Amino acid sequence: MKDVREKISFNRGVPAAESLPGRKIGEVTKEVMGRYGHSLLQYGDSKGFSPLRERLADRYEDATSEGVLVGNGSLQILDMIANLVVDPGDNVLVESPSYDRALTIFNRVGAEVQGVELEKDGPNLEELEVLLETHRPKLLYTIPDFQNPTGVCATGKKREQVARLTAKHGTLVVEDSPYRKLRYRGGEKSTLRSFNPEGVVQMSSFSKLVGPGMRVGWVLGDPKIINDLAVYAEDTYITPSLLSQGVVNQLVEEGWLEKNIEELVRLYGPRLKATLESLDKYFPEADWVRAQGGFFVGLWLPDNTEVDRFYSRAEEENLVLASPAGFFPDRGGEGFVRLPFPALSPDRIEEGIKRLGKVWRSL
Ligand SMILES: Cc1ncc(COP(=O)(O)O)c(C=O)c1O
Repeated sequence: MKDVREKISFNRGVPAAESLPGRKIGEVTKEVMGRYGHSLLQYGDSKGFSPLRERLADRYEDATSEGVLVGNGSLQILDMIANLVVDPGDNVLVESPSYDRALTIFNRVGAEVQGVELEKDGPNLEELEVLLETHRPKLLYTIPDFQNPTGVCATGKKREQVARLTAKHGTLVVEDSPYRKLRYRGGEKSTLRSFNPEGVVQMSSFSKLVGPGMRVGWVLGDPKIINDLAVYAEDTYITPSLLSQGVVNQLVEEGWLEKNIEELVRLYGPRLKATLESLDKYFPEADWVRAQGGFFVGLWLPDNTEVDRFYSRAEEENLVLASPAGFFPDRGGEGFVRLPFPALSPDRIEEGIKRLGKVWRSL
């Protein structure tokens, strides 16, 4: 029997270990080496492996392979965009809370980072409009599909409004959507990019669909910005990891990826359900996002909570939680907890949330 005091980690948003397709990658690597061996081992186009770029362009309306760059994971692509577009002192808008590593990137290039409150249906539009007018930001970074760290999925209406407002102010939008295909309930929403293809660059990644160690992410956008990124990429790493891209291309071509997405939905859907049901059952005092997909459920502790004590008591109960400060551009958000669920079985999720509720009631 499992020790009920076993450590339960709600720390990092990583795929389930059992979802990583080791054997399949081994087989496909052998196959693509036979097919493309020489070109995958040589320096190549800094925009990435062209069969994969063409395949990605085919999947999206308004995209041509000229407007696609495939790089070493989407985080590095974001780093390149930030370096290319943002000068020290420029204003950058992000959702508050937002993905902690993205905030680090914007801070590192010297941006003045401002947060737009993220509501349960997307960014607060009044606040966005005021900030666009008063701060004239260079860029808005948004994660409309099952946001990290909250799980919020922006409504179609808000996406359209965000695209309209940013277009009016000439602010570039970076739409980061690595969780878009991992929807367990409800129907897909339009991308922000579909409302303004010239003013939005859309990034995504195979990290959550195949495995993060592949380091394959992509960005779609206006060919002008993609060409600028390609020059930056060439000066940074010459060529991305073509072998990984060749393998991913094969997985997409033979239909394995689509089937794997269905399997991931079957694996993760019940884990999200366990998270939401356990919160209803064991922690009804808290307030959380009824996520419909992705990797995270964001939770706000009741207003009167002594947050430092909550976190130290949670540690004593063998719960590992990410520090919330990193998700907030203004370093606020002490009462926030991110619950990543994919790497935990439903019974571990239930036990973890039971402990969370118990910790809060013990204060
Ligand atoms: C919103 C978001 N963007 C980007 C990334 C990084 O993805 P990649 O592995 O493609 O660099 C993550 C990873 O957790 C993420 O949550």
